[in-house]
Amino acid sequence: MKVTYYGQSCFLIETLGQKLLFDPFISPNPLQSENGKAIVNNIEADYILLTHGHGDHVADAESIAKRCGATIISNYEIVSWYQTKGIKGHPMNLGGSKSFDFGTVKMVNAVHSSVLPDGTYAGNPSGFVVSNTEITFYIAGDTALTMDMKLIPMTCPKLDFAILPIGDNFTMGISDAVLAAQFIECDKIIGCHYDTFGYIKINHASAQKAFSAKGKELILLPLNESTTL
Ligand code: NI
Ligand code: MN
Repeated sequence: MKVTYYGQSCFLIETLGQKLLFDPFISPNPLQSENGKAIVNNIEADYILLTHGHGDHVADAESIAKRCGATIISNYEIVSWYQTKGIKGHPMNLGGSKSFDFGTVKMVNAVHSSVLPDGTYAGNPSGFVVSNTEITFYIAGDTALTMDMKLIPMTCPKLDFAILPIGDNFTMGISDAVLAAQFIECDKIIGCHYDTFGYIKINHASAQKAFSAKGKELILLPLNESTTL
């Protein structure tokens, strides 16, 4: 299983021959500069999973979905909004699981807010637990630390890794994300939602130290680079 990081909360996860793109915010990302547009024009996705409607998670979803014919997986409100634009979608809501050809998705709680870029109501924000015969992972979306995270190890297969926001201000910061890693019983964490804007700049070394002090690994992927897990 291959993971590529495109900045903020955008990841391309390739598993069992399928390409899953999460929260595409690439062309407007100030860290991408000129690369962003080329990536958006060339990236391939079979499915686009959106955790909530904020611009820093959905900015490039429409153009990529239309070019690739990708299916959007998100909550009912967000999928309905994209369907009015002629984009395929599969609607879910909190607590629901569904089997797809790449594996099973469970939509889990996130404590945050959500609205679409034109002001349309976007329902509740969420995270996803994705599991198949190769891998199980949790992608938290934008969220505060919440006791609901303790439900994940009780209700889902054992996590191989998790993608957690660590940038503070709009989401969990480092110390809450370390607790989240404990709540979800996962030792391998990939950080997201940091460094993109001034409000969420972090110190990488101290972040990694905070995780390692609790026996956890914090992976901070360089922009546009991939790793195999
Ligand atoms: Ni957000
Ligand atoms: Mn965000």
